[in-house]
Amino acid sequence: MTQPIEARVEDLLSRLSLEEKVALVHADSKFTTAAIPRLGIPKRWLSDGPHGVRQEVGPDTWKPAGRTDDFATAMPCGIALAATWNPDLAQAEGAVIGEEALARGKHIMLGPGVNIMRTPLCGRNFEYFGEDPFLASRIAVGYIRGQQSQGVASCVKHLAANNQELERMTINVEMDERTLREIYLPAFKAAVEEAGVYTVMGAYNRFRGQFCSHNDYLLNNILKGEWNFQGLVVSDWAAVHDTREASLCGLDLEMGTDKPYDEFFLGRPFREAVQGGDIALSVLDDKVRRNLRVMIGTGLLEGRPPGSLNTKKHQATARRVAEEAMVLLKNDDGALPLDPSRIKSLAVIGENATRLHAHGGDSSGIKAFYEIAPLEGILQRAGSQVNVTYSVGYGSDTGNDAIERAVQAAKAADVVVFVGGLNHDSNSDVEGSDRLDMKLPYRQDELIQRIVEANPRTIVVLIAGSPVEMGAWLERVPAVLLAWYGGMEGGNALARILFGDVNPSGKLPCTFPKRLADSPAHSLNAYPGTNGTVRYEEGLLVGYRWFDTKNIEPLFSFGHGLSYTRFEYSNLRLSPGAAEFDVVNVGEHEGGEVAQLYVHDAHPRLARPDKELKGFRKIFLKPGEKQRVSIPLDQGSFAFYDSDRRAWVAEPGEFTILVGSSSRDIRLQDKFTLRRPSS
Ligand code: BGC
Repeated sequence: MTQPIEARVEDLLSRLSLEEKVALVHADSKFTTAAIPRLGIPKRWLSDGPHGVRQEVGPDTWKPAGRTDDFATAMPCGIALAATWNPDLAQAEGAVIGEEALARGKHIMLGPGVNIMRTPLCGRNFEYFGEDPFLASRIAVGYIRGQQSQGVASCVKHLAANNQELERMTINVEMDERTLREIYLPAFKAAVEEAGVYTVMGAYNRFRGQFCSHNDYLLNNILKGEWNFQGLVVSDWAAVHDTREASLCGLDLEMGTDKPYDEFFLGRPFREAVQGGDIALSVLDDKVRRNLRVMIGTGLLEGRPPGSLNTKKHQATARRVAEEAMVLLKNDDGALPLDPSRIKSLAVIGENATRLHAHGGDSSGIKAFYEIAPLEGILQRAGSQVNVTYSVGYGSDTGNDAIERAVQAAKAADVVVFVGGLNHDSNSDVEGSDRLDMKLPYRQDELIQRIVEANPRTIVVLIAGSPVEMGAWLERVPAVLLAWYGGMEGGNALARILFGDVNPSGKLPCTFPKRLADSPAHSLNAYPGTNGTVRYEEGLLVGYRWFDTKNIEPLFSFGHGLSYTRFEYSNLRLSPGAAEFDVVNVGEHEGGEVAQLYVHDAHPRLARPDKELKGFRKIFLKPGEKQRVSIPLDQGSFAFYDSDRRAWVAEPGEFTILVGSSSRDIRLQDKFTLRRPSS
């Protein structure tokens, strides 16, 4: 029991038969592996997903099991968590899901998802952490630390280059080495090296011709070789295609294959290959060691704490994430917050005001204990003094009547809150398909224009997990709030922001382009690929790296997000170890600000993006309060990946350090000369 982990691994390994070893490297139901009772190894439960513990299915089907004990706290979606820019909150969210995983008997939680937003259309953008590798890394590390602190293994997914849902099971991704290292791998690397993540999921797609769930280069060379990953690699469900590759190219646990369990590629065929001497026993032993290491490391063999479900603390964390995530995109003349004592009537319009989302999206969906829809939250908060009306306005079959009724409702009210956006239907924010364009569906553009004509005091609230076009009406509405999918407390969080109980402090983790054609992959016609292969022609220039380098004006820039108060920045001082500056709240409300630090390389030897996020800090200040903020600078802040040297290098020279409230709202800057050469 108290022996060091490796000694226990070796001891157990020596007592397992060949059959038992093979049983540990493939599934025996949709989400479990076999128990080995004589050695005290229990059945191991894996479960989705990144937003909470998913409902039970199976054992041999995806159909819901129809149970009453599989509810969970539904947290806001991944991109919302990233929009908080608050790694401590990510840690709190990870811990909540970890506690609930214990209560639900889950050992490995299949999240977080950290794939970079390459195109606004990717159906799973809502699950992931946006377009920037530094931000995604910080959020992932927080989340994993929180979850694993509970004795539950996280599973960072999907390694790698899983950036579109279109043809996701087969598409072959080609990109240059530097892009792989600088954009698509850092969040995985941080998960392994900084957070000590126990498990990694291989992706469905191919990378440089080989399927990612058994990809020699990604899994053996980089993950296990360079990063010294000691945990286990699990396949995505039905992402395995070949016994030999699965054995030799880095996979340790096969799940979801469409065959009887014993016939899995790492089942009987693998056992026979080992017995026949085609594959060395040491290959199997390495996989078993990794599986045992995760079991022992997380305390699975000891009997685990009971965990807890849907506690007040879990609910409060869900609400706080939702509140800190919401991004105030526009707010002219203090249109928000609303003052309930000065509003007699409020027209809530839009299908998303009443629609529930937590269960949607596919594998990340949650059977929530409850879900507060926006209308419910608004009704509760507005109180009986305000006459709140509701009109659906749009839906999958938007008819002229619905529009006319909404316009009448808008005319009759002091203020309109339109709640629209996207949902988890197919070709929207959903696993398994991409969006077809970047427009709001169901004639919402037309509806918003009609509403704002009828009542200029129209607040637009968007529930969405990826960028949408707003050009048709943005100039004419005074305020736009991006609420994401806010989990089960989303409606309460929204009402608290609308009425000013909470000051918005979220910032965009992705650029909102004016039109799809402005975004890199689409501008270069490099999506969704041809003849089964997609080439990432834009290379490093993903998201704001593209818009800034190419001087293209976005609709809303990366890092953007307004507040009900104002922050001033001053007194930047750079030293070799840190950038220090003052932030003061010069407005009337208490509020949170995310101070962002970007690095510009004045004379790069290899071309670099115009600027790159290298640090940030979220701080909360009372009116008049000032804080000196320190953001560390190290070699990594200046480094780029040199493919010839196969290493990250920080070369001496002149840089500009830019500090601001968004990637395009830079408040302070200064030159910095990096002196010591190093690599
Ligand atoms: C998804 C994974 C998920 C798995 C198990 C796959 O289709 O890509 O993210 O964890 O299913 O449900």
